[in-house]
Amino acid sequence: MTAEALTPPDTPADAGSAQRTPLVVRTRSELRDAQMRWAIAGPLVPAGLDADPGRRAVVMTMGALHDGHLELVRRARAEAGPNGQVVVTIFVNPLQFGAGEDLGAYPRDLDGDVAKLAGVGADVVFAPTPDVVYPDGDPVVRVAAGRIGDVLEGEHRPGHLDGVLTVVLKLMHLVRPDVALFGEKDAQQLLAVRRMVRDLEVSVEVVGVPTVREADGLALSSRNAYLSPEEREHALALSRALGAGAAAPDSGGAGVINAARQVLDEADGVVVDYLALVDPVTARSVADDFSGHALLLVAARVGTTRLIDNQAVEVSPDQR
Ligand code: PAJ
Repeated sequence: MTAEALTPPDTPADAGSAQRTPLVVRTRSELRDAQMRWAIAGPLVPAGLDADPGRRAVVMTMGALHDGHLELVRRARAEAGPNGQVVVTIFVNPLQFGAGEDLGAYPRDLDGDVAKLAGVGADVVFAPTPDVVYPDGDPVVRVAAGRIGDVLEGEHRPGHLDGVLTVVLKLMHLVRPDVALFGEKDAQQLLAVRRMVRDLEVSVEVVGVPTVREADGLALSSRNAYLSPEEREHALALSRALGAGAAAPDSGGAGVINAARQVLDEADGVVVDYLALVDPVTARSVADDFSGHALLLVAARVGTTRLIDNQAVEVSPDQR
């Protein structure tokens, strides 16, 4: 049988190329079909039987896609290889929103998202409704982020990381990826996913992708769409504070925090939820006299919009 004979009519010959419009699937059976089609035809397209079949890579999102998400997809294409399969999931997961958060208002634009994905190498968009992901209603058994979920985001959004991990594990089981890509922008989420994969023996490689920023430093976020021009200006204090902390010379952990806090204290229109310097594996705050590799994180409200950002910091010993 030739490769052509095995290629279903709606699998274009340039499968895996960057310009392809992704196939949008909404149900479990449509997703399964797309996976089967790749399993049968993918390795034969376009290079023949002895071609590297590549891997399946997944990028999980809640939609309202921006360049940060698209960077994850580009990287997923590279991880999957030209004959691999890149799946992007778009699902606003109710489980990770607390009471009074923006679940109802969260921006949703599937057609716009699919159009953006056409140019970056996505093969399949899995965009399920809540009843597809949670056919029995809210899951009774859930993943607990444990002590990683109690600090930082967990302190201000109780249960949030449990909701994230539960949907991430479900989507991993549905999509069955070899590799999953997550942004460093949500550092605690990335850390929790890595820990879940380790602790629960999930057979997937987790790849972190550096934060994509606007030219002026603002980390891209779907929630930036909520900001007025004036609030957007105020929001720059977050990345400025992280930069000041990272640049604090020879001043130990306390010096890093102090330098960052000073920027936030002087900023207009920014209400800080937390500013913390933590161990990048445990998410626990480091001691004042700490030196070494750490993560500086900030969460703040600008108007009614809650923003988070973080930066890796090499803390040098306090020489003062
Ligand atoms: P969402 O906020 O849509 O983000 C999807 C992915 O894009 C996450 O891995 C996030 O870290 C990454 N991302 C967002 N902004 C980024 C930026 N500026 N640079 C690089 N990567 C960025 O995170 C979620 O959705 C959800 O919690 C999810 C994992 C999908 C589970 O529901």
